[in-house]
Amino acid sequence: MASKLAPSFFRSAVRSACRTARPQFRAPAAAAARASSTLQVHRNTPNNNPDVPFKFTKQNEAIISEIIKRYPPQYKKAAVMPLLDLGQRQHGYTSISVMNEVARILEMPPMRVYEVATFYTMYNRTPVGKFFIQACTTTPCQLGGCGSDAIVKTIREHLGIEQGETTPDGLFSFLEVECLGACVNAPMVQINDDYYEDLTPETTRQLIDALRASVTGTGPDAVVDHAKVPQPGPINSGRKTCENSSGPTNLTSEPWGPETTRPDL
Ligand code: FES
Repeated sequence: MASKLAPSFFRSAVRSACRTARPQFRAPAAAAARASSTLQVHRNTPNNNPDVPFKFTKQNEAIISEIIKRYPPQYKKAAVMPLLDLGQRQHGYTSISVMNEVARILEMPPMRVYEVATFYTMYNRTPVGKFFIQACTTTPCQLGGCGSDAIVKTIREHLGIEQGETTPDGLFSFLEVECLGACVNAPMVQINDDYYEDLTPETTRQLIDALRASVTGTGPDAVVDHAKVPQPGPINSGRKTCENSSGPTNLTSEPWGPETTRPDL
């Protein structure tokens, strides 16, 4: 009997020891401040509050009716993203008045529109400069060419602003972003709708200077001479798109025919 009880006694003793409360201690930690977190919250400002009127232009109203025609009438809310984009292009950023007007047109609860606009970072919920520079800092851009760290440093030093800020003349805003899908031309930046690729610190400075030279005036009244805006794409790298800069390395000769692979034919 004793020999049967002993293992049971030891097993329960071990179990009790395991259950004994151990001190739980975790070092205090704080999440790193993220500049993008400011994008997720709306705070009324004199220029961005529901009382600021916003209406689409006649020209954009015509575009809106074309967009809405793409969807069955009961699903016209599916047009929310192109309409927000149109509103942002007209107004300069996606203000709360733009969102409310889109909700009115599409007969959606405004909250549904806010949810879309706050989820996608392409909707700028606060004003940005004439040239909105988004520098990709994801791994391929960080490792490719001179690396995105050098590009980000150049932009910050040349413009005198940190990420998330706009230059005092209202011409440039700068943000670090994740992969923009042009990794093979790393490092690269997106400026408004265009990609500038294969950058170096030198070409980045030249690009910013050329953009500045294309503008007359400052602030919201600044006018851009688009003929002076540098062509997008790879800059000074000898590439036209994303082809190998060392030239073709395969498929350089006439492909074999069946007479080579099937001499029995
Ligand atoms: S990692 Fe920069 S474009 Fe993909």
